[in-house]
Amino acid sequence: MNEIEKKVQSIGVVPVIKLNNPDRDAVPLAKALIDGGVPVAEVTFRAAGAAKAIKAMHDAYPEMLVGAGTVLTTDQVDEAMAAGAQFIVTPGMDPEIVAYCKKVGVQIFPGCTTPTDYHTAYKFGLEVLKFFPAEQSGGIAKIKAMSAPFPMFKVMPTGGISLKNLADYAKNPVIAACGGSYMVTADLIEGGKWDEITDLCKKSVEIVKEARN
Ligand code: 3PG
Repeated sequence: MNEIEKKVQSIGVVPVIKLNNPDRDAVPLAKALIDGGVPVAEVTFRAAGAAKAIKAMHDAYPEMLVGAGTVLTTDQVDEAMAAGAQFIVTPGMDPEIVAYCKKVGVQIFPGCTTPTDYHTAYKFGLEVLKFFPAEQSGGIAKIKAMSAPFPMFKVMPTGGISLKNLADYAKNPVIAACGGSYMVTADLIEGGKWDEITDLCKKSVEIVKEARN
């Protein structure tokens, strides 16, 4: 694993963020995550201001690992990188975007759930994949089954993960980290509930730590 993958693994959880008001919310949200022991953010391009949010977080907290999620085009890879994104996440396995990320030298976590996806990732020499949507695709049982032919990968399951099932994923060595929006819901962000976000992050880190022991 490279340095970014190791950092993601050591943090153990990756908040998947949709920010509608980056000017107002990006910096306080980044602080809330850092205070909760989760200095990483996957800022999704589902909202128009994603690049702005990435730049604001990156500028305010250069030590934080800030990446872009829901990246669907190579133009968005460029936009994310110009804003300071250190990693790219795609919902599916798109060979064009993976090849482009490798060419420009940015970390890519493509969404993979099938043997075909994994095989494509193998050909690219990737080591850590997003497993998305995790619960809906068969959850940890499917992730374990995929490890039989593809033991070289670690995965970052995302989709349907919460404090309730986090440990069930995190205790397995195949899991690099767990992604989710449960600690950064629209309600929490729009309401400026930064303390609650910090608290959910702390609980998540604690659960992952215990599950790995
Ligand atoms: C993602 O893009 O990774 C998911 O939408 C996050 O899934 P969740 O909202 O179920 O955590």
